[in-house]
Amino acid sequence: MTDRITVLDFGSQYSHLICRRIREFSVYADLVPYDIGMDELQRRNPKGIILSGGPSSVSSPDAPIPDGGIFEMGLPLLGICYGHQLIVDRYGGMVKRANREYGSSLLTIDNDADLLHGIGSSVRAWMSHGDEAEQVPGGFDVVGHTESSKAAAIASQTEPVYGIQFHPEVVHTEQGTRILENFVLHICGARQEWTMDKFVDATVARLSRTEGSVLCGVSGGVDSTVAALLIHRAVGDRLQCVFVDNGLLRMGEANEISCMFADNFGVNFAAIDASDSFMEALRGVSDPEVKRKRIGEVFVRVFTEFAKGNGPFRWLAQGTLYPDVIESGVSKGPAAVIKSHHNVGGLPSWLDLEVLEPLRDLYKDEVREVARLLGVPKEIYMRHPFPGPGLAVRIMGEVTPEKLEIARVAGRIVEDELADAGLYNDTWQAYAAVGDDKAVGVVGDERMYGNVVMIRVVDSTDAMTADWSRLPHGLLEKMSNRITNEIDSVTWVTYAISSKPPATIEPQ
Ligand code: XMP
Repeated sequence: MTDRITVLDFGSQYSHLICRRIREFSVYADLVPYDIGMDELQRRNPKGIILSGGPSSVSSPDAPIPDGGIFEMGLPLLGICYGHQLIVDRYGGMVKRANREYGSSLLTIDNDADLLHGIGSSVRAWMSHGDEAEQVPGGFDVVGHTESSKAAAIASQTEPVYGIQFHPEVVHTEQGTRILENFVLHICGARQEWTMDKFVDATVARLSRTEGSVLCGVSGGVDSTVAALLIHRAVGDRLQCVFVDNGLLRMGEANEISCMFADNFGVNFAAIDASDSFMEALRGVSDPEVKRKRIGEVFVRVFTEFAKGNGPFRWLAQGTLYPDVIESGVSKGPAAVIKSHHNVGGLPSWLDLEVLEPLRDLYKDEVREVARLLGVPKEIYMRHPFPGPGLAVRIMGEVTPEKLEIARVAGRIVEDELADAGLYNDTWQAYAAVGDDKAVGVVGDERMYGNVVMIRVVDSTDAMTADWSRLPHGLLEKMSNRITNEIDSVTWVTYAISSKPPATIEPQ
C-alpha cells in the first residue's frame, strides 16, 4: 500500500493545498472530513495526520472537534492554524482570542531540531488567524515565535506532536515546503512513492482486471482524454469512445479530436455529428439556463441512442477528478479506481452501467503530467477549460449560425494572438463573445451597422474567482484589428474588464 498522509479538513480555503504540496514531493496525501470515524481512518493507515486550518474558534460551542481517538493512535500529528489551536486545547494549554493577524510575519526559530530543521534562523510566514495559543500545554516547547504570536510553533517533548500557527502550504511562507517535508519524510518517515509513472502502471494493472466493454464519452478536454487513454492501455479494443459533436465547439476542434483518437491513438472511436439536433433544440431560446437544459437533454438522448445501438456495455468511464470526489464526500483513496454502481450526469437508469473513474485520486496538475506521460499533445493538456455547453454560453440571446461563426472566428483570433504573444499559458480562459448589440462603423466610405464582439481574457487558479487579464494594449489592438478586418459583419470590439465576482467568467 502506498504510504500516505491524511489531512483532516476543518474548512480552511488552503486544505487542498496541503495535499497538493505534499504530493509535489511524491508522497500521497488525502483530504478527509474532520469528523471521519476511527474505523475509516485506520483503514487508510496513514503514516501521519495533519489537522488543517479552519474558520472556527476552538472556544466556540459549535467548534468542529475530531474523534479523540486520533490523539491516541501514536501517529505523528501536525496542527496548522485552527489545527494548532486544537492541539493546544486538547493537551491542556489555553487558546485566547487575539487581534486578527493576517499576512506575512517574521517567524524566529527557537529550536531547529526536527520540524523547523534546515530553514535558517528566521523566515517569513503566512498568518491568517483570530485565535492564538496563550498558554502552551505542559510537556510542549515553543520552537518558533513571531512578534505577536509567542507560541507560533510548538513541539511535544515526548510525542511526535506539533502545532504551527502559520500556513506552510501557501507560497508566501518561505521554506514552507521544507517544513512539510520535515514532518512528512523525517518525522512520519513516509516514502516518496507517489509518482505519475507509478500511478499509470498501477492504474493500468488494476483496470486490466475489469471484464466487459467500456463506453467512454470524450469531449477533447484533458480529463476525458486521459481517462480514455488509460483505459485503452488496459482493455484495448474493449473500450469504445464516443464524441458527440454538438456544433458548439471552437474552430477545427471536432476534427482535431477525431484525428487524435482514431488516427494517433488507434482507439475505437465514433464521432456523432448531432449539431443539427442541438441547433433545432436551441432555436428561439435565449435564456441561458434553458439553453443549458436543452443542450443537456439532447446530449443524453444522443449518447443513450449510441449506447443502446452499440452495446452491450458494462462500464461507463468518466474523467472525475479528486476535488469533485471530495466535494461529493465519497473519497476512497488510491485503491478505489472503481466507484459504486450508480447513475451519473442525468443518464437514464436503464443504461445500468457501472462507473469507472480512473482519475478520481488526481488533481488537475497530476492529470496533465499523466497526459504528458501518455503522449497526449501539449496543445490538448495545456488547453484552457471549455464549458460543456460550448459557445452557446458565449452567445448572448439566441444561438444562430451567424453568431456561432463570429464567436468561432473571433475566438480563434484571440487564442492565436495570445499564444503568439507567449501569454496563453499565463491566462485561465480567453474567448470572444457576441450578442445582438449592433454599433455603427465606417467601412470604406459607407456607414455600417455591425456586430459588437466582446473579448474576455481572465486570470484565475480555480475558476471560483477571476480577474481580467491586464494584456498589453498592443496585443488587444492587434486582436481588435484582426477581428474587424477578418469578419466583415463586426464593427466594434470591446474588452471585458469585470472581475468575478461580481461578474462570472462566461457571459451566459
Ligand atoms: P462562470 O461563468 O460560472 O464559469 O464563472 C466558471 C467556470 O465554469 C465553466 N462553465 C461551465 N462548464 N458547463 C460546464 O461544463 C457549464 O454550463 C458551464 N458554465 C460555466 C466556465 O467556462 C469557467 O471555466
